Amino acid sequence: MALEGAPDELSLAGPEHLDPAYVAGYERKAQFDPTYDLVELRSHGLGPASTLVDFGSGTGTFALAAASHCRRVIAVDISPAMVEALRLKAAEQGAANVDCVRAGFLTYEHEGAPVEFIYTRNALHHLPDFWKGVALRRLAALLVPGGILRLRDLVFSFGLDEAETRIGAWIDAAAAERSEDGWTRDELEAHVRDEYSTYTWLLEPLLERAGFEIVSADYGTAGAYAAYVCRRRPDKRTP
Ligand SMILES: C[S@@+](CC[C@H](N)C(=O)[O-])C[C@H]1O[C@@H](n2cnc3c(N)ncnc32)[C@H](O)[C@@H]1O
Repeated sequence: MALEGAPDELSLAGPEHLDPAYVAGYERKAQFDPTYDLVELRSHGLGPASTLVDFGSGTGTFALAAASHCRRVIAVDISPAMVEALRLKAAEQGAANVDCVRAGFLTYEHEGAPVEFIYTRNALHHLPDFWKGVALRRLAALLVPGGILRLRDLVFSFGLDEAETRIGAWIDAAAAERSEDGWTRDELEAHVRDEYSTYTWLLEPLLERAGFEIVSADYGTAGAYAAYVCRRRPDKRTP
């Protein structure tokens, strides 16, 4: 059942993700290699019997790479343009075990048994923290006890007093010259201003409260990205 007052996830999804022209250039811009995440998930048991749900799957770089290693992939995205692009790509590649669903973290309705794996990359930051908590609780409910969540996102791993210098240093180091090749200074500034990237030290208690044990956390060096492996605790009660 949807929570009263839930936001329209489409209106928070970033207008660029709804634009078919942006979607067409997305993979070149993102230059994302899914290999490492697949190795990580396979080390936690992803295999031919597994079902994986990818939330905010975008054009499906990870979902399609995962499809050849597991039984079924459910790729969920709120953007009709992203879902359409992934549907076409899955059909072109003959990936018959990929289901494409247009829905959000807060609205996806799962049919069938709980799943063993959830993956989500660079999508949860579209929700404000209150709604991240609701979303994470929904993800926990979707997993079998012991199931694995691989969560990657833009998350800040520094203290409040460092925010100004660390954000400045990150943008200086990460900004691309051209929007086609990456995220420009303007786009990164818009991310900080308009989206809901939070701090690791706020996100981690949310993960715990949602019913996850954090198995590993990698913040890299930039202080702006976090990659987690989390396991759903057997006991679903909120602490
Ligand atoms: C930056 S892209 C990341 C795509 C892909 N995961 C990747 O790593 O390349 C963010 C994606 O999240 C989707 N998205 C935004 N808000 C969402 C929500 N509330 N529920 C599901 N998907 C969402 C967008 O439509 C977009 O496809």
